[in-house]
Amino acid sequence: MAHRFDDLTAERMRAGGSWKWSTPGDSHGRGLIGAFVAEMDYPVAPAVSDAVRWSADASAFGYLPDDWAADMASACSAFWGDRFSWAPDPAWVRPVPDVLTAFTATVRHFTRPGSAILLPTPAYMPFLTVPGMIDRPLVQVPMPLRGGRFELDLDAIDRGFADGAGLLVLTNPHNPTGRVFDADELAALAEVVDRHGARVFSDEIHAPLTFGTARHRPYATTSDAAAAHTVTATSASKAWNLPGLKCGQVILSNAADAEHWTATGYLAEHGTATPGVLASTAAYRDGRDWLDEVLAYLEGNRALLAAAGLPGIEVTVPDGTYLAWLDARGLGLDEPPSAFFTREAGVVMTDGAACGEAGRGGMRLNLAMSRPVLAESLARIGEALSRAPAPR
Ligand SMILES: Cc1ncc(COP(=O)(O)O)c(C=O)c1O
Repeated sequence: MAHRFDDLTAERMRAGGSWKWSTPGDSHGRGLIGAFVAEMDYPVAPAVSDAVRWSADASAFGYLPDDWAADMASACSAFWGDRFSWAPDPAWVRPVPDVLTAFTATVRHFTRPGSAILLPTPAYMPFLTVPGMIDRPLVQVPMPLRGGRFELDLDAIDRGFADGAGLLVLTNPHNPTGRVFDADELAALAEVVDRHGARVFSDEIHAPLTFGTARHRPYATTSDAAAAHTVTATSASKAWNLPGLKCGQVILSNAADAEHWTATGYLAEHGTATPGVLASTAAYRDGRDWLDEVLAYLEGNRALLAAAGLPGIEVTVPDGTYLAWLDARGLGLDEPPSAFFTREAGVVMTDGAACGEAGRGGMRLNLAMSRPVLAESLARIGEALSRAPAPR
């Protein structure tokens, strides 16, 4: 049966003006399909557009009042309680403009000065570059691919902490591999981190976006030790597609951290956009039906990807996030695969090398487009394979 999202044609999306659809150029006389940055093509939830419209009508563009921040914290906590069985104390849910601001504040204020950051890779690209920008060494910890799933290398993480690293970046659900880590993996990680008295920055921005039987488990709920060493960050910006509204949440999970954040978090909180807070509150509180519709639609897109059959490419259908990992190493290309497929298929994906050494030879495909456009993308990728040079 046709769905309203099916009408979101490439032409419509190009006219819409998003970053995702603004790559110039063409491929064999066809327009480029934007499938790189993590934005969804779907129109936002009515509750969100109503909130933004209300902000404009009420001239609500001033600094953020405490009671609006508190209301968002309550809405976020209630949503997390209902979906992930953890309703954090709203007083410990703090506004930030985005997850990267939460990350830099966590590194600055919750880790030893100068200590290195451990990053399982492939990873969300800015986690590779931002540590250097705040004068912190980065240690990549490649995730071994076992039986088609990327896993945390706990021995390497253990060694990294033994060598002096102060913090590990956990992204769960994981961008770009689509993994949703299970309870045993999280518990094993918590034990290693605890043993070294280290910290975890747990990026759970994709938490609402899980599929099939996969369920998001907040890392801070893994154990008392995890609650004591974790700063969690999330946002409505992925699941409700609001990154331009500049609003996220830091969730603290112990009294000492909450007190420390009160003393140090002002600068991080200050950039949060007031309309973004109102929109995020609306998303968490009144945008759940829209979210469920999007999740059901994405299930269909996952099924399409699973059935695609792209010879020479190992496809990881995501359990979480709307980002699929395509391992193109089997093609033996002598250029980054994203360059080949932009030129030959006109599908613009994120190159795996941007996600760290462990990502080289892979690509990240954004599935959050209309089903007909995804079908065309997969057909174009399949057809471009016939133009790939024979593997050496
Ligand atoms: C894992 C992860 N973390 C953080 C972000 C940044 O999101 P925002 O800038 O909306 O906070 C993204 C965006 O794609 C992401 O995928």
